[in-house]
Amino acid sequence: MSARRRLLGPGDVAAESHEPPQSDRIVDPKDSFAEELYGASLRPRCFDDYVGQERVVENLRIAIDAAKRRGEPLEHVLFYGPPGLGKTTLAGLIARELGANFRPTSGPTLEKPKDLVGILTALEDGDVFFVDEIHRLGRVVEEFLYPAMEDFQIDFVVDRGAYAQTLKLPLKRFTLVGATTRAGMLTAPLRERFGIVHHLDYYSVAELERIVRRSAGVLGVPIDADAARTIASRSRGTPRVANRLLRRVRDFAEVRANGHITAPIADEALEREGVDALGLDRIDRAFLQTILQQYRGGPVGMGAIAATLTEDAETLEDVVEPYLLKEGFVTRTASGRRATARAYDHLGIAQQAPAQERLL
Ligand SMILES: Nc1ncnc2c1ncn2[C@@H]1O[C@H](COP(=O)(O)OP(=O)(O)OP(=O)(O)O)[C@@H](O)[C@H]1O
Ligand SMILES: [Mg+2]
Repeated sequence: MSARRRLLGPGDVAAESHEPPQSDRIVDPKDSFAEELYGASLRPRCFDDYVGQERVVENLRIAIDAAKRRGEPLEHVLFYGPPGLGKTTLAGLIARELGANFRPTSGPTLEKPKDLVGILTALEDGDVFFVDEIHRLGRVVEEFLYPAMEDFQIDFVVDRGAYAQTLKLPLKRFTLVGATTRAGMLTAPLRERFGIVHHLDYYSVAELERIVRRSAGVLGVPIDADAARTIASRSRGTPRVANRLLRRVRDFAEVRANGHITAPIADEALEREGVDALGLDRIDRAFLQTILQQYRGGPVGMGAIAATLTEDAETLEDVVEPYLLKEGFVTRTASGRRATARAYDHLGIAQQAPAQERLL
């Protein structure tokens, strides 16, 4: 986070915004304090409020129904996909639909098996145990989780050396719901223990438009149809971004107009926030500019881009790059990232002829 803030210079609109400091990138799809504080009420409260991802929702509904009929716990569920697409929301909806308790935690907070034992032994039958960022579980904790997921028991080793014994402690039959932005970082044994695995993909503009209208309704803000579309089309396929942009536009509409969000108001507000017509913000553009200008369009490794931007490579890979890849601004090659003609076009930079070997 601190690395990201270095990109924002004085006079930067996002830095001056009155949001709590954690939310320093308006199109940042990652969770933030502001999101927790203001976003909670915008979270869908039932499957019917959950827009899009129809196939995923349909499959979950069937699995939940079947589990309820059999009186069994739902199989363990894994969601993966870019940040802000509704993984945590779905986990909560599963618990609600099952009529079960929701017990959330996250990979990085489970440092030792001890941390996990306390939580696992407190679970009741059918509870939904949610592990966010599950790819960040330590190896020891992860191995401890295997028998818990598979046989609903945990193994304790007591004593040492020749006297060592393994004791088995039975658990209630719970459902683990895991979420990750990095499915590739999960070990095979962990992945195999999930009976239900779903990938969440970016949302269409039409779906985001529905989300913006619904959120505006929840917030009680009047919004024109074309304004909802303007916000949706700049939300980089991500509901969290759509809600965040809506809140910024609402502020602007309240202060500069009569509170009613029209398309010109939305346009102007987003322009001021540095979000361009395709939803790219300063960091996206800096990322592309680095490849285009410092590395002549690439190929260039992520480490080099991160060093130039004084950013964290993992953040760039999770938050910035996926959307640029999806929209065809960059490609990934064996030798690194390459900018496409679309990137040159969008930034208005002339594509240079390949560098000539000066010595020839
Ligand atoms: N399908 C949807 N319909 C309506 N709103 C949604 C939907 N998905 C997500 N949202 C909104 O976007 C916000 C972010 O969703 P959520 O926190 O579930 O994302 P996430 O995938 O868990 O992100 P992360 O990877 O950062 O944990 C929610 O607060 C909710 O308001
Ligand atoms: Mg989440």
